[in-house]
Amino acid sequence: LARPHQLHIGAAIDLRFLLDDPDYTDILEKDFDVVVAENAMKMDATEPQQNEFSFGLGDLLAQYAEKHNMLLRGHTLLWHEQVPRWITAGTWTAEQLEAIMKNHIQTVADHFKGRVFAWDVVNEAISDAGGMRDTLWRKTLGDDFIARAFQYAHQADPAAKLFYNDYSSEALTRKSDDVYALVKSLKEKNVPLDGVGMQMHLNLNNPPSMADIAQNMKRLADLNLEVHITEFDVRSAGFPGTAKERNEAMAKLYSDVVTVCLQARNCTAFLTWGVADNHTWLPGDAPLLYDGFYNPKPAYFAVQEAL
Ligand code: XIL
Repeated sequence: LARPHQLHIGAAIDLRFLLDDPDYTDILEKDFDVVVAENAMKMDATEPQQNEFSFGLGDLLAQYAEKHNMLLRGHTLLWHEQVPRWITAGTWTAEQLEAIMKNHIQTVADHFKGRVFAWDVVNEAISDAGGMRDTLWRKTLGDDFIARAFQYAHQADPAAKLFYNDYSSEALTRKSDDVYALVKSLKEKNVPLDGVGMQMHLNLNNPPSMADIAQNMKRLADLNLEVHITEFDVRSAGFPGTAKERNEAMAKLYSDVVTVCLQARNCTAFLTWGVADNHTWLPGDAPLLYDGFYNPKPAYFAVQEAL
C-alpha cells in the first residue's frame, strides 16, 4: 500500500527475535521494507574495544535485509549514549577524540557501504533546554564536531543518505527550531546532509499538533532535506478511558501522522521502534502496531486505511 506513494515502512529490529521467532519474521516480511538495528549498530556494539570492531550482528541484519529485498537504515554513527566504556573511562585531548570519532565513523560506514541506504550520522545533539547538548563529543571537540562527523561519513560512503536524527522535534517548538537552525547552517556550509530523522516517540496524553508537523516538514523540504520518521511509537500509560478507547485514540494518532507524512513532499519513510508490544524499549507500555501476541492492533488497520 505504501509503495505507490514512494513511502517506505520499517521497524527497529531486535536481533534475538530475528534469529529465532518465525512469527516475528513473518510480520517483517509481509509488512515492512526497511529495517534498522535497535542496538546492534551503535558504537558500544560495533567498537567495544578501541579499534576492535565487531560487526557480526549488524552483518546478520544486513544479510537479512538483502535476502528479503529490504532497505537497511544505519543507526547510529555518533551519539552520547551507548558509548563504549573505553571512551567514557578515558581522558582524551581534542586531537585524540577527533581521531577516535573519525576512525569509528569511517570504519563503520565503510564496512556497511552499499548496504546501508541512510545513516543517522549524529543522534540527539540538541538539548531539550535549548541550544546544543553538552555531550562528551561537544565538550572536547566543540560544536563543529557535527559538521565533521557528516564529512567523515560522506568520505567513507558517498552514496549513503546522511541524516541528523532527534526526538521531540517534530512539532514547532524551541527544540525543533534549534534542529532547524542546525541543519540550515550545515546546508549553508555545504556539509553533506540529506535529511532529518524525526524519532517521534509520542505520548497519547500529549500528542503534537499535526499542523505543526506539516509546517516543520515543509520548512525542511524548502532546505532540500528529506524527512524520515525514524522511531515512531506511542506511550499511553495513564490515558483515561477503556482499553478500546485507548486503542482507538492510538489508531487515530498513527493514522494522522502517516497522513501528514504522505502529504509532505519530503517525508519518505515511516519506521516504528519495534514490531510488536511483546518487545518495546518502553517497559509496561503498548506502543506499537502489533500486540504482544502478534495480532494487528487498530493502529495497524488505521495505517492501512491512511495509505
Ligand atoms: C533504545 C533501545 O530501544 C534500547 O533497547 C536501548 O537500551 C536504549 O536505546 N532514541 C534512540 C534509540 O535513538 O537508539 C533508543 O533506542 C531509543 C531513543
